[in-house]
Amino acid sequence: METDLREHAEDFRANPYPYYEKMRAAGPVHRIRTREADGVWLVVGYEEARAALADTRLAKDPRVMGDWLDESQGLFSNMLDTDPPQHTRLRRLVAREFTTRRVEALRPRVQQITDDLADTMLARRDRRADLVDSLAFPLPMTVICELLGVPDLDRAAFRRWSNEMVAPTGPGQESAAVAAMSEYLVALIEDKRSTGRRGDLLSALIRTRHEDGDQLSSRELVGMAFLLLVAGHETTVNLISNGMRALLSHPVQLAALRADMSLLDGAVEEMLRYDGPVETATYRHTREPVRIGDTEIPAGQDVLVSLASADRDPARYPDPDRFDIHRAPQGHLAFGRGIHFCLGAPLARMEGRIAVRTLLERCPDLALDPDGGAYEWLPGLLIRGVRTLPVCW
Ligand code: HEM
Repeated sequence: METDLREHAEDFRANPYPYYEKMRAAGPVHRIRTREADGVWLVVGYEEARAALADTRLAKDPRVMGDWLDESQGLFSNMLDTDPPQHTRLRRLVAREFTTRRVEALRPRVQQITDDLADTMLARRDRRADLVDSLAFPLPMTVICELLGVPDLDRAAFRRWSNEMVAPTGPGQESAAVAAMSEYLVALIEDKRSTGRRGDLLSALIRTRHEDGDQLSSRELVGMAFLLLVAGHETTVNLISNGMRALLSHPVQLAALRADMSLLDGAVEEMLRYDGPVETATYRHTREPVRIGDTEIPAGQDVLVSLASADRDPARYPDPDRFDIHRAPQGHLAFGRGIHFCLGAPLARMEGRIAVRTLLERCPDLALDPDGGAYEWLPGLLIRGVRTLPVCW
């Protein structure tokens, strides 16, 4: 089944769900043509997506495709772009830093950062703000930069590079951002190594020696720092902004949550299912022919799994286009599945819950700004979100 989306690029960005619905009705996997991804296979059914994410015949390492260009000083020597056994080793080195228990220890600081951002936002005389700029972006960025030990001064540059990498707006922008970011990280790691810096995670990783003497190489350190920073920058922002957009445009759901905050955790899960930040998982490559539904995908092909489509599959979630905070959408795929299941999920959930709770508690009449104009959607297939989210109170 081939689906050509090139003519519909703008509509598809603004609202891909009707397109996914049509695709799912025609079959669980499609060969798609878009401006960014031409001739890629897209998995759109829930069961098939769930299986594909855990299928070892779908490799992550792009060298499987034989077009490995290595100018990135290790940016892609990271766990998300590798297969076992490298993946197992890299993930094991940081997994303990991101467990639910470890992340709990960050709660007071995350709350404090959120309160400070909310104070500044709510002090505005005009009672209007861009929620992305005021809170959804700076909260996760500050948290991940503090955790890793990226100095305050460098964070603006980071924001730009990381944005340009996941949602480039012009030719060459992505590779320039990759080059700038890797150069920066090499220098930062060198600086920390030579000054033996403090208690941040990056310094700890430099010192890390596993019981069996395992240690990260310089390239692997750059890859790790890169992945954690970009994953920490570009995802949680859209959980907060897509989630608040959904909540504020569903008054009955909003009122139900305001009336009973014990619904908060379920509401955040529904935000992840209904309009999650990661629209498609990252590229997989077929090592051998793989059959999905009635379709045989040959060896050596690129495969994308649409998490957004899977989580709106009516075969899994009845009435999937309804935003319902009482739904408790178990098994949603917003954080992926299998060995690459999001390492940062406990942190992202905590940040999301704190952000939503704080906004609702601090701002009883928060609303989408009716004069905010049309949304500008992030380009690309990977991340789903708006550039700005005008709100008022
Ligand atoms: C709501 C926010 C987030 C969402 C929706 C999200 C989603 C995802 C998804 C879907 C994957 C798997 C991608 C794939 O299989 O291709 C993933 C992997 C990953 N995420 Fe997240 N993420 C979020 C926040 C974070 C944060 C805050 C961190 C930072 C610590 C993080 C770190 C990672 C890492 C390191 C991986 C790779 C894991 C591996 O390859 O083993 N994520 N994330």
